[in-house]
Amino acid sequence: MNNIAIIGAGGFGREVKTIIDSINKIQNKYNFLGFYDDGFVKGDIINGFPILGKIEDLQTIKEEISILIAIGDPRTKKLIYNKINNPFLDFPTIIHPNVLISEDFVEIGQGCIICAGTIITCNIKIENFVILNLSCTVGHDTSIGSFSSFMPTVNISGEVKIEECVYVGTGAKIINLLTIGKETIIGAGAVVSKSLPEKCTAVGIPAKPIKFH
Ligand SMILES: CC(C)(COP(=O)(O)OP(=O)(O)OC[C@H]1O[C@@H](n2cnc3c(N)ncnc32)[C@H](O)[C@@H]1OP(=O)(O)O)[C@@H](O)C(=O)NCCC(=O)NCCS
Repeated sequence: MNNIAIIGAGGFGREVKTIIDSINKIQNKYNFLGFYDDGFVKGDIINGFPILGKIEDLQTIKEEISILIAIGDPRTKKLIYNKINNPFLDFPTIIHPNVLISEDFVEIGQGCIICAGTIITCNIKIENFVILNLSCTVGHDTSIGSFSSFMPTVNISGEVKIEECVYVGTGAKIINLLTIGKETIIGAGAVVSKSLPEKCTAVGIPAKPIKFH
């Protein structure tokens, strides 16, 4: 069994712990140790498991532990990953057992979290530390850049190119053949019908940038 811990003890972190439970029901793969979170005190108990320390405490670990970064905000997720430099830690991809992924040319990097109900079809490249929350769909010939996060029930059509650190709010739909520029934020419920530039927030139907950052 692999020792595993989660960074982030908020709502999403607790949900990610339930993915570990679902995997363990099928095959006892992970020994869940607890959470790392700067917002809690070491020893606090979250859903029966301890806060093991703050993120800086990950630097002092001297045994092999798998780490999942359960942080939705792409830039925070990237910042945290870049702070950690400890050869004892690895960052596996975790996939809920009921996710549907075809075997036809799907590549998924390290550190990804793929939640229950998600469907990933064929010829898809998902880079590192991508979160696909509950019941997302990813269509053919799509690529997703590292650290991007998709909230529940986002639909990505075919041949979409999503660059690094994109955040897509719950229920948004991205139609086919579009590019979403890096660090862009798409609001909940948006329908994206044209490519979006980098570093903007776009909302509505059809989605339009309302600010640049
Ligand atoms: C798009 C979003 C990131 C904007 O957040 P923000 O930068 O703090 O922007 P504000 O809340 O100041 O909103 C700016 C304007 O956009 C509007 N707006 C915000 N989100 C919107 C959305 N999803 N659809 C349509 N309009 C939206 C606001 O009403 C506001 O309009 P106003 O200027 O006329 O008052 C946020 O509203 C959002 O949709 N987040 C996704 C949340 C989500 O999916 N959570 C899932 C958790 S599992």
